[in-house]
Amino acid sequence: MVILDGKKTSEDIKNEIAKAVKNRKNEGKKTPHLAAVLVGSDGASMTYVNSKVKACEKVGFNSTLIELPENTTEDQLLDEIKDLNKDKNIDGFIIQLPLPKQINEQKVLMAVDPNKDVDGFHPVNVGKMALDLSTFLPATPYGILELLERYDIETSGKNVVVIGRSHIVGRPMSILMSQKRKVGNATVTLAHSRTSNLKEITAKADIIVAALGIPEFLKGDMVKDGVVVVDVGITRVKDDTKKRGYRLAGDVDFNSVSPKSAYITPVPGGVGPMTIAMLLKNTLLACERNES
Ligand code: GUN
Repeated sequence: MVILDGKKTSEDIKNEIAKAVKNRKNEGKKTPHLAAVLVGSDGASMTYVNSKVKACEKVGFNSTLIELPENTTEDQLLDEIKDLNKDKNIDGFIIQLPLPKQINEQKVLMAVDPNKDVDGFHPVNVGKMALDLSTFLPATPYGILELLERYDIETSGKNVVVIGRSHIVGRPMSILMSQKRKVGNATVTLAHSRTSNLKEITAKADIIVAALGIPEFLKGDMVKDGVVVVDVGITRVKDDTKKRGYRLAGDVDFNSVSPKSAYITPVPGGVGPMTIAMLLKNTLLACERNES
């Protein structure tokens, strides 16, 4: 069993980005600038956004964190987005999800300038992604493609089962893996909460991407020997033995699944750091595109 080390791989990618930024600066070009908008004070979202800002510093990007209160109205957030769309200094920005319930997520995501949408969530970019046109790929699926590529994992002709149909991970993952691309050409099954006989489906999978958000859902008796397992889940589970009162659990029961796996991502240290690295990569791309 080989651990797909997302932490190490993401460090490699960040070093590559840092080098590109250094070269840009030497050539007198603009420093890439990412902005992140966080509405409210959800603990997990705050942690993720802070990691994104810290990663910007690490690669030499400029970053701006915009923190808005939990009771922010939709109009106030839309005004903020208008300003970010106009700001020439900012190459790309993200609105951290989930948003408080008074705000319509779809309306907000549609207000982001597609050229600055480094999350790849705007319908224009989702459409381009689905049509295999050059665009910002959503960071988590992009990170998974990159991780599989850097570990030379063959996907062509393989049975890939994606569990979970979210707009952020499962749906785009299923589309990308079916496309004609280096990491792709797979026969994809998109399973979800209404799927019947899931165990029969996962047992035939060569590669499983678990992205349903239920801690330790995928068990050893649901997979075949030699499977490649990518665990996207990251849920805070109450644990009084830990100082902070919780532990981070993936969607995969690592103890029972890992002995049967050829490759498996850990949680934490698997997909999470890759997501951040690919967000930086998209921001660098946005900055380069603005020049041409
Ligand atoms: N919430 C969970 N994942 C993501 C992500 O990739 N981007 C944003 N903006 N919010 C998220």
